[in-house]
Amino acid sequence: MITDMKFLDLAKWRYTAKKYNPNKKISEEQIQELKEIIRLSPSSINSQSWKFTFVSDENVKRELARVSYFNEQKINEASHLVVFSAIDDIELFEKQIAENLPEGSVNYYNQFVKIGSDAEIKSWLQHQVYLSLGFFLSACASMSIDSSPMEGLKNEEYDKILQLKGYKTLFAVAIGYRNPEDSNQPSTKPKSRLPLEQIIQAI
Ligand SMILES: Cc1cc2nc3c(=O)[nH]c(=O)nc-3n(C[C@H](O)[C@H](O)[C@H](O)COP(=O)(O)O)c2cc1C
Repeated sequence: MITDMKFLDLAKWRYTAKKYNPNKKISEEQIQELKEIIRLSPSSINSQSWKFTFVSDENVKRELARVSYFNEQKINEASHLVVFSAIDDIELFEKQIAENLPEGSVNYYNQFVKIGSDAEIKSWLQHQVYLSLGFFLSACASMSIDSSPMEGLKNEEYDKILQLKGYKTLFAVAIGYRNPEDSNQPSTKPKSRLPLEQIIQAI
């Protein structure tokens, strides 16, 4: 049980699972908790330019796995697949913030974001969704749930299968419980990171 772990211990415990135990499913209660947590992710001006699709249906999961290159097996074995998409319709986004955000936040968007090209605006909208990925992976670790973030997907095929309108798939996360034989787990394969002195500067 890892309930009382410090965040540093969770960071050492979590890893990108490459093999799952296909017979162990995440409880409905925990899935509900993950949905509530992801809803609370922070974003610039509280923009919330995202949609999270929780896939438990085995047929849909298999269909998505088939268009996920080398990630196919882990998606099929995992308990659930969560697909992260970003708003791709700028008008739809502007309507959403006009209806939900305080005037000051909308003004910030108009002054600092809207002045960019469509590509720059969409890139800003997508950054927010990547932030929720970090939040989600940490939440999973805190609940002893294993995870695999994946950009190796045919994004347009995902959009079609999920019938996304106004949103585009960015990446997905398989979640479940690790297969004890997964050779990627930290107990077998030590975590690989650049040295602290190289990536952290103290002034
Ligand atoms: C945005 C993103 C996309 C990734 N895409 C894949 C992927 O498609 N398949 C995969 O096996 N791992 C993928 N990874 C996992 C990374 O390779 C992994 O996080 C990194 O090597 C560090 O290892 P660790 O997560 O086990 O600590 C992805 C990670 C991130 C954050």
